[in-house]
Amino acid sequence: MKQIRNALFACSLLAAVGLPSFATAEDAVAVNTKTLTQLGAEWRDENPYSGQTEAIRIGEDAFAENCARCHGLQAKSGGVAPDLRLLDRDCIDLPSASQKQACFKETDKYFLFSIRYGKVRNGNVYMPPFGEYLSQEAMWAIKAYLASLRTNQI
Ligand code: HEC
Repeated sequence: MKQIRNALFACSLLAAVGLPSFATAEDAVAVNTKTLTQLGAEWRDENPYSGQTEAIRIGEDAFAENCARCHGLQAKSGGVAPDLRLLDRDCIDLPSASQKQACFKETDKYFLFSIRYGKVRNGNVYMPPFGEYLSQEAMWAIKAYLASLRTNQI
C-alpha cells in the first residue's frame, strides 16, 4: 500500500509541477549503436535484436543514461514510474511458443510507441517523447536489455 501511495504521490507531483526539466527529452544522451545491424528508416514492430548480447550491452548503458532517473537503476523501479522488468509479464506463462512470440511482439510495439511519443495525458507530461533523440537502434537495444531482465514477479 505504501508503495502505491508513493507512486500516486510521485505521479501527482509530476502532474502538478510539470517538471520543466523532464518535459522534453532534450537532455537525452546519444547512444552509439554502430556495432549493431543498422535498421534503416522503416520502423520495425518487433525487436530485431532480441536476445543479442551486444544489443543488451548497449541497451544497458542507454537505459542507465536515459531512463533510470525515472524507471530506476537496473530497471528496478523505486515507485516513480512503472517497473519495466514487468513489461512482458502477461506473456511469460503463455502455454505455447507461438503465443509467447505473438505476445512479445505486442509488447515490443507498445514499448516502441511509448518511447517515441512519451506519455502525455491532458497536457501533463508523465514521460517525455524520445522519438527525436534516440535512434530506432537505440530503442530496440533498450528493449533487448529489458527483455533480458523480464519477469512476472518482483
Ligand atoms: C521523466 C521520467 C521518465 C523518463 C526519463 C522515462 N520515463 Fe518511461 N514512464 C514514465 C512514467 C511516469 C510512466 C507512466 C506513465 C503513465 O502513467 O502512463 C512511464 C511509462 C513508460 C512505459 C510504459 C510502461 C507500462 O507499463 O505501461 C514504457 C515502455 C517506458 N516508460 C519506457 C521508458 C524508456 C525506455 C525510457 C528511456 C528511454 C523512459 N521510459 C524514460 C516516466 C519516465
